[in-house]
Amino acid sequence: MRSVIDILDLTVEELEELISTALDIIENPSKYAHICEGKKLATLFFEPSTRTRLSFEAAMYELGGNVLGFSESNSSSAAKGESIADTAKTVSCYADIIAMRHPKEGAALVAANNATVPVINAGDGGHCHPTQTLADLLTIYREKGGFDNLTVGLCGDLKFGRTVHSLINALSRYKNINFVLISPEELKLPSYVKKGILVKNNIPYEQTTDLETAMPKLDILYMTRVQRERFFNEEDYLRLKDSYILTPDKLKNAKESLSILHPLPRVNEISVAIDKDKRACYFKQVLNGKYMRMALILKLLKEAGTI
Ligand code: NCD
Repeated sequence: MRSVIDILDLTVEELEELISTALDIIENPSKYAHICEGKKLATLFFEPSTRTRLSFEAAMYELGGNVLGFSESNSSSAAKGESIADTAKTVSCYADIIAMRHPKEGAALVAANNATVPVINAGDGGHCHPTQTLADLLTIYREKGGFDNLTVGLCGDLKFGRTVHSLINALSRYKNINFVLISPEELKLPSYVKKGILVKNNIPYEQTTDLETAMPKLDILYMTRVQRERFFNEEDYLRLKDSYILTPDKLKNAKESLSILHPLPRVNEISVAIDKDKRACYFKQVLNGKYMRMALILKLLKEAGTI
């Protein structure tokens, strides 16, 4: 059974295919409005979520399907001690496809190994978040027309930010990509991503703590929230949480063509004054996420022979 746990589970050709399906959905929504009639998506969310869960649900409704699930681990049998494997086997009896978010790294893989329907990883701890990357990719595609020759600044919590790890994985497969990794010392990109992807594939990158110096060269600025829930102590979080706050002043030296992305939720990282700037793309990203999740649900259900 085909599941999507990591963004690398999808080839570059498949990403192109998902983008073209999403663009077609945007142009011709009625063509897709009944494809999933009678089919069910289960959303198993063991961690808080607004966009990811609701966009999966909206995606399935817009395909004509139905949705069941839970949005808190304490309202499921996990609170009684049920294993992820048993939950996955159980939910496979009710649903045609599963989207799951869990605080533990590797949880989605365990679910996929035990489910008899496709599983989509909607975020596993500080590890990865492939469908946010699909939203990011469609946004970059619509803003820039492609993925080659971009200088991409990733700013904030690069250690625990799972969206950053997946995005680096995805973009590393395109030509002439440069990364600028902007974070406090304590929140630098983990070495399994830095060595395992950037160094291994000879992808140029620089590391800095200074956003303003990096700004002029960036084509994309991907801001992130400091991931409070992954910290071992509150003091460290409080010390680091406001390391970067993007204000109009800090954009003075930025390119006119810069695209500012953020997976959201934002806390303080982007001042609301930036929302009016034409370079702000984060609410477009939210909408793009729904279309890409529609495309992914369709692809996996087709491959499973369900539709
Ligand atoms: C992200 C996540 O859950 O990792 N949110 C999202 O899905 N859009 C980013 C975050 O929570 O900071």
